[in-house]
Amino acid sequence: METIKIGLVGLGTVGSGVLQMVENNQDKISNITGRKLSVKTIVVRDVHKHRNVDTENIHLTTELDDIINDPEIKIVVEVMGGIHPAKETITALLNAKKHVVTANKDLIASEGEELTSIARKNKCDLMYEASVAGGIPILRTIVNSFAADQITEVKGIVNGTTNYILTQMQQKNCSYDEALQKAQELGFAESDPTNDVDGIDAAYKMIILSQFSFGTHLKLDEMKIQGIRKMQLTDVEQASQLGYTVKLLGIARRINDGVFAEVGPVLVPADHPLATINNENNAVMVTGQAVGETLFYGPGAGGLPTANSVLSDIVSETKNIVLGTTGNSFNNYQNEADHVKASE
Ligand code: NDP
Ligand code: HSE
Repeated sequence: METIKIGLVGLGTVGSGVLQMVENNQDKISNITGRKLSVKTIVVRDVHKHRNVDTENIHLTTELDDIINDPEIKIVVEVMGGIHPAKETITALLNAKKHVVTANKDLIASEGEELTSIARKNKCDLMYEASVAGGIPILRTIVNSFAADQITEVKGIVNGTTNYILTQMQQKNCSYDEALQKAQELGFAESDPTNDVDGIDAAYKMIILSQFSFGTHLKLDEMKIQGIRKMQLTDVEQASQLGYTVKLLGIARRINDGVFAEVGPVLVPADHPLATINNENNAVMVTGQAVGETLFYGPGAGGLPTANSVLSDIVSETKNIVLGTTGNSFNNYQNEADHVKASE
């Protein structure tokens, strides 16, 4: 059976999960796609660093060119994070005709339009299911399962770190600092957790969700964003005494011809479904005109859950390669819709 070779850029929490999943799930993947998958080359900052995963038969390098110049590598996973040099990295990969899968919401929310157009120009796919809500397959669900319905609102808990911190404060009496440290140790937080605790990470995810739900390209400065940095134990205790749970919610709503979006801490009644979402779990509530309210729940951060979403993109792309249907990734959906409108 033919093998599709994969490159990874990054071997931290998510990259290690991806490597483990590719290695441990070969039978299922080859049954579905008719191809084996194999990680051939991994780009990291420090090739001498101790790793918790086996890299014995893999080329570990600091040189992106080792992937760019390797015609055997068809799909590359970017899990280094941040905007620069991730943007330049993905641009170079797409221009080298590699299909790219990423978990990088910072980059997709800020530069996704430009990168999508570079992907289209090169007839390559750029897929990013893992960029929103970790292990919850929410982007594909919105594209496929809300294909005809008009979405009126999308809201929920889309940051695992802050939900973990708030849960630990509420249920374990942990201080904010202790809880943040635990979230970092567990690999939920970004390498610099500023974006998590200040609501920026959730705002990036709401930008991507709004793109998929409403076809808009919101900017961070068009949103009202508040984080949980100033949250005290007494705040969550008082909320609890009054029958509420504090949750960091992202909300995006269609209003007339526009979209209103914000992120901030909200007092959620203790019997509301969103109040029951604990620790690093996320939940996204999508309301459609026809279907009404729906709720999608699951782990919003962590190596293996996020790797599962990355793998869903890799498997989808492998099928595209086999069927000769590359260059049509679901993330180009809105652009396709714009094209249809423009040609009418
Ligand atoms: P980590 O910090 O754990 O890992 C980052 C990896 O990228 C490391 O292996 C690092 O190399 C490598 N790297 C960083 N900068 C460079 C560079 N300039 N050149 C080459 N390699 C580089 O990050 P995560 O795995 O947690 O996150 C990766 C991405 O996934 C981010 O975009 C994040 O937002 C996203 N994400 C993370 C989730 C999570 O739960 N952690 C969930 C969903 C999405 P080295 O090891 O040598 O230092
Ligand atoms: N730091 C992010 C979070 C990772 O805590 O939700 C998942 O995107």
